[in-house]
Amino acid sequence: MNDDHAGFMADVITGLSATPKRLPPKYFYDAAGSALFLDITRLDEYYVTRTELAILQTHASDIASHIPAGSALVEFGSGASTKIRTLLNALPQLAAYVPVDISTELLAQEAAELSRDFPGLPIYPIAVDFTTDFRLPSTLENHPKAGFFPGSTIGNFEPREAQHFLACAAHTLGAGAIFIVGVDLEKSPETLHAAYNDAVGITARFNLNMLTRMQRELGATLDPHGFRHHAFYNEIERRIEMHLVANGAQTIRVNGNAFEFANGESIHTENSYKYTQARFADLARSAGWDIEASWTDSQQHMSIQALRCRRGESMSERPDHAKLHPPPD
Ligand code: TRP
Repeated sequence: MNDDHAGFMADVITGLSATPKRLPPKYFYDAAGSALFLDITRLDEYYVTRTELAILQTHASDIASHIPAGSALVEFGSGASTKIRTLLNALPQLAAYVPVDISTELLAQEAAELSRDFPGLPIYPIAVDFTTDFRLPSTLENHPKAGFFPGSTIGNFEPREAQHFLACAAHTLGAGAIFIVGVDLEKSPETLHAAYNDAVGITARFNLNMLTRMQRELGATLDPHGFRHHAFYNEIERRIEMHLVANGAQTIRVNGNAFEFANGESIHTENSYKYTQARFADLARSAGWDIEASWTDSQQHMSIQALRCRRGESMSERPDHAKLHPPPD
């Protein structure tokens, strides 16, 4: 077993030993899961990707006007590059593009493709977990900083993790920086339900891939048909919850452990929090950012927020490590 598998194994054992059972969403994204996720972004019901791209395209020059000439643009978790291209096309005077991603291969591939299409643009890829408090290359020290974090990935954090992430980003980007963040908005539960329960079952396959990945990589013994995809909007927590629910009694065996499931018992695999403009502004403010501008679509389904890192009491000037590591629950 390689190191990646050892980490996956440890997280599976911890998650399935917990009550209620859970698995970390980062394990959705092996090659099969990433391909299924790309299919999700193209579904009729899944409005998030399409709507965010439309907002970016419609307001590209307005969004770009918040990013000064000579800026270094840092993308947190650079995946498919359609969105960044839209922004790069509107930002001819950028000093550098800094894609940040845990996957070295993805980074190299994206950097190669972008340098072909934007030949004058220096690219400084950083292979790191973007949720940590990482440093930018010192050559970029004297450039204004801009961050980009699309896809409403911020909604996949617990609110206190989102606050911690925003505080770390404030520290990385520094006082006065701008941060362009895609945030999914509260809307009718029916629209939300459809987006995470598509008619052709791609989201179900994406969720169930977590189990088949455990079989492939960890040699787990389980019945993949013994579980079903269950996604619903939790109106109290204001989040979509994704679960894998046992059809009848089930057992997952892995590495000498046997995890028993009663009929209907679930594994919680992911949350996708939805915000109102006001609640997101409160969250941003609590982490050192003010809302400078925001854009939405005509149905107000999705939003792009321009946050400005506060000067003065900002953590980028007075780093306080206690604040950069969230206390345990
Ligand atoms: N952040 C997006 C969202 O919450 C994309 C996403 C992450 C997603 N995990 C997902 C979409 C699982 C569907 C299913 O919508």
